[in-house]
Amino acid sequence: MNFTGAHILSIEQFQREDVERIFAVADRMAPYGRRQRVTRVLEGAILGNMFFEASTRTRVSFGSAFNLLGGEVRETAGFESSALVKGESLRDTARVLSGFSDVICMRHPQAGSVAEFASASRVPVLNGGDGSNEHPTQALLDLYTIAKELAQRQRSIDGLRIAMIGDLRYGRTVHSLSRLLSLYKNIHVLLISPPELAMPEQYVEQLRSTGAQVTISDQLLANINHVDIVYSTRIQEERFPSREEADLYRGKFRLNQAIYTQHCEPNTVIMHPLPRDSRSAANELDIDLDDNPNLAIFRQTDNGLLVRMALFALVLDVVDQVDSCAQAVRWHSARQL
Ligand code: NCD
Repeated sequence: MNFTGAHILSIEQFQREDVERIFAVADRMAPYGRRQRVTRVLEGAILGNMFFEASTRTRVSFGSAFNLLGGEVRETAGFESSALVKGESLRDTARVLSGFSDVICMRHPQAGSVAEFASASRVPVLNGGDGSNEHPTQALLDLYTIAKELAQRQRSIDGLRIAMIGDLRYGRTVHSLSRLLSLYKNIHVLLISPPELAMPEQYVEQLRSTGAQVTISDQLLANINHVDIVYSTRIQEERFPSREEADLYRGKFRLNQAIYTQHCEPNTVIMHPLPRDSRSAANELDIDLDDNPNLAIFRQTDNGLLVRMALFALVLDVVDQVDSCAQAVRWHSARQL
């Protein structure tokens, strides 16, 4: 695909070679993410960071990635403080805000809303999550992390065995990740959820039609013993009709060090898009896993910065200028990636 000026809305846009291009550019961002060098390549550029739904890491990660390229970030958060509560259409908001920014990142609770917004935007729009539909940048950072973790084990993405666990119905990260995995060969995906929270048929179909082996189960322990990755997710309580209904599913699939030791192959990588629900009723990834070197959740967030920098550099067409606008950092930097 031609990245210049493109909206990034869905994993459907990508071929495998596009994903490889993003990952190659992300690799080149590492010295900037590690704070060994700084670049001013986006000096003067403005990111409109518009989050109409709860977010900590995605919002700050997009903003920090833009800052790391030398650009400035303007934030809007919440419906309450926006004109959307006055009845303004997404398309009007897009016409207006795209006049103030060079690129926009947006999260919104309604599926399809970011694409609708993008259709009226005069600048590229990156989807930071649209309802239970998609979260393409999270899937890209997840797969980038998977590739790096597997490379340390002399493996590539082809042949991957991954268990996706939890709320596969409303979880947009697993929707986008399964679409992304459809681009690879000999993938085995184990979908572990309560039947009511099963992965929607369209994603299962897409995986199967591209040759992936898909196993569907509501049993955790029997399905995590021969996988490279366990990818746990949170019950998406905000998408349930009521909190009581979400409570029915909380804490059903808990992973802790004892379960890991007993049921997983050594070196199985543990992932989660975060936030993990650490309340006792849920506790999907116990904190006793925090000392496990295969817990990759904070490597995911670090890698996300590099992947989002890569996407900005690609859509704003500055990849080849990043290094020529760079210099060494002048301060003591303890940051490791
Ligand atoms: C996820 C999301 O918002 O879809 N979080 C994230 O962006 N890393 C997952 C979640 O909220 O459970």
